[in-house]
Amino acid sequence: MKNTVKAVSAALICAVVCVIAITAVTGFFNVNDEENKQTASIAEVTTLSREEIKARSFEELFKTIDAKDIPQDVFTLISKDFAVITAGDTSHYNSMVAGWGGWGVMFSKPTTFLMLRSNRYTLELMRKEKRYTFTFFDDEYKNDVMAFGQKSGRDGDEKMKNTQLSAVETPDGNIAFKEAKLIIECSLVQITTVSPDDFYTDESKTFIVNAYGETNDYHKIVFGEITNVWVSK
Ligand SMILES: Cc1cc2nc3c(=O)[nH]c(=O)nc-3n(C[C@H](O)[C@H](O)[C@H](O)COP(=O)(O)O)c2cc1C
Repeated sequence: MKNTVKAVSAALICAVVCVIAITAVTGFFNVNDEENKQTASIAEVTTLSREEIKARSFEELFKTIDAKDIPQDVFTLISKDFAVITAGDTSHYNSMVAGWGGWGVMFSKPTTFLMLRSNRYTLELMRKEKRYTFTFFDDEYKNDVMAFGQKSGRDGDEKMKNTQLSAVETPDGNIAFKEAKLIIECSLVQITTVSPDDFYTDESKTFIVNAYGETNDYHKIVFGEITNVWVSK
């Protein structure tokens, strides 16, 4: 009798241990399946070819975020990635590279600022349209980005015709690029002209006086209210 009880107890313990083991192993594989699914979907997005990007719509490529949730720091974005500033409409637009600028709060609103030489053609279109975009790109697009900083659109339209980047209209009618990782859309608030008398460091004063020598005008500081921010999905 004692032996029968022992045998039944041993069988029960064995069954419980087996159930726990099977559940643990199945659960483990389920978690890994879930992880694999997530990794696959990230990989799918990050490995889109240029052709695949071109074929997708603005809505397929980008999602809206709040300006306070911009995922990278402003210093890296502006002075390492560099901003592509674009103004115009679908019939005529122009882009330039900017390495001086940033964003913060002005008149209680999320606001961008830029320091632009007065003769930039993009600045002319910004004045005309009263809106523009900042776009930022991953390093693989660095050559495409730099090409916007080598020629003025005032001298012809080759710069915009020859780019491999795909211009796209934002829902509000601005121009951005499908390959961007971040798009900041702005509405023009103020363009102000710097004056040498307002500078307190020799380096900055010399810079803007020298620029005046080349353009017959002082640099412009451009403030724009951030109206939309999108990141690539
Ligand atoms: C890395 C880089 C950063 C630049 N940063 C600025 C800038 O902050 N402000 C500016 O006025 N020009 C800047 N430029 C120069 C303009 O991008 C360049 O003159 C461009 O051709 C102007 O184009 P646009 O006349 O068609 O507008 C930069 C150029 C490069 C390559």
